[in-house]
Amino acid sequence: MKKSVVIVEMGLRDGLQNEKNVLDSDTRVEFAKRLIEAGTKRVEIGAFVSAKWVPQMAGTAEVIAKTHSLVKSGAISKKIEFSVLVPNERGMQDAIESGVKEVAIFAACSESFSLKNINCTIDESFKRFEPVMALAKKHKIKVRGYLSTCFGCPFEGKVPEARVLKLAQRMHKLGVYEISIGDTIGVADVGQVESLFKKLKKVVPVKKLAGHFHDTRGQALANILAAYKLGVNVFDASLGGLGGCPYAPGATGNVATEDVVYMFHGMGVKTGLNLDKLIQMNSWVAEKIRHPLPAKVGKVGRLMPLGKVVR
Ligand code: HMG
Ligand code: MG
Repeated sequence: MKKSVVIVEMGLRDGLQNEKNVLDSDTRVEFAKRLIEAGTKRVEIGAFVSAKWVPQMAGTAEVIAKTHSLVKSGAISKKIEFSVLVPNERGMQDAIESGVKEVAIFAACSESFSLKNINCTIDESFKRFEPVMALAKKHKIKVRGYLSTCFGCPFEGKVPEARVLKLAQRMHKLGVYEISIGDTIGVADVGQVESLFKKLKKVVPVKKLAGHFHDTRGQALANILAAYKLGVNVFDASLGGLGGCPYAPGATGNVATEDVVYMFHGMGVKTGLNLDKLIQMNSWVAEKIRHPLPAKVGKVGRLMPLGKVVR
């Protein structure tokens, strides 16, 4: 097992897409800046999806433009990698115009979720990816892929492993550099994670696999640990455990970044993130979205000598 992992920050996309209070672009840029100051190297900064479908992601182009200005001025580290979610060619055109160097495409492992989330079948979604991949190649843009509902679908229930394996191979053949295996509704358990990732490793190199666990049933940390023990080193998480998917009924937020960092640091596994800064961000984000966040460590802080708690 590697002694370091990479955490891909989802707060600004998967996190905010499910919030009632829509944050303005300046607040989103400040969110990104604080994440970077806490050591975050990979951030999904927004989504070029339809504003009618996900109004929270409107203004993504402005957020990117303002963040790029901060990078240019030296206020934000140049080492940061921003990615943006795109569902189709139109989204990809917007991404190119925005100047991002990475995008993420997403497909479901259940037809009903695909229809509810992007209004097309799984096959149609893969057809939409062809022009996206061609444009990515032309413009030298890295592409990450998500597979959603890998462990269960809010409309269809259990999803067969064989289908996930087939779609992971299909996504891999498209040429994405990494495939994030999504537990969209936080239904997976350790048994399922071990079983699926053992099989996935045989069809996609493990270094190209990432874990994307929502914490709906409190299993996300255990699932991450199980995947890590099988050689997975990249995990998606969102500050404070923000978010969920507006088209996945019952889905709550991603596993909280602070909780994942606490677990890995406790095991001596490096994340490159500053836990205290993340904990301090928790209350800042909670104030902006006007409700407390579900993160455990982020909420109570960590124990310090003499019984003091860092908040
Ligand atoms: P549609 O209505 O079928 O699209 O939506 P359409 O092609 O018929 O176009 C309708 C209108 O949308 C047109 O505008 C298009 O120009 C426009 P109008 O003529 O009506 O003015 N349009 C767009 N506008 C902005 N950006 C675009 C775009 N494409 C078309 N890219 C569509 C299809 C895919 C656009 C829609 O269903 C959509 O935006 N869905 C996004 C849903 C979403 O963002 N869900 C959450 C993210 S996925 C997730 O959270 C899971 C994940 O975290 C992993 C996990 O947890 O498993 C990644
Ligand atoms: Mg998600």
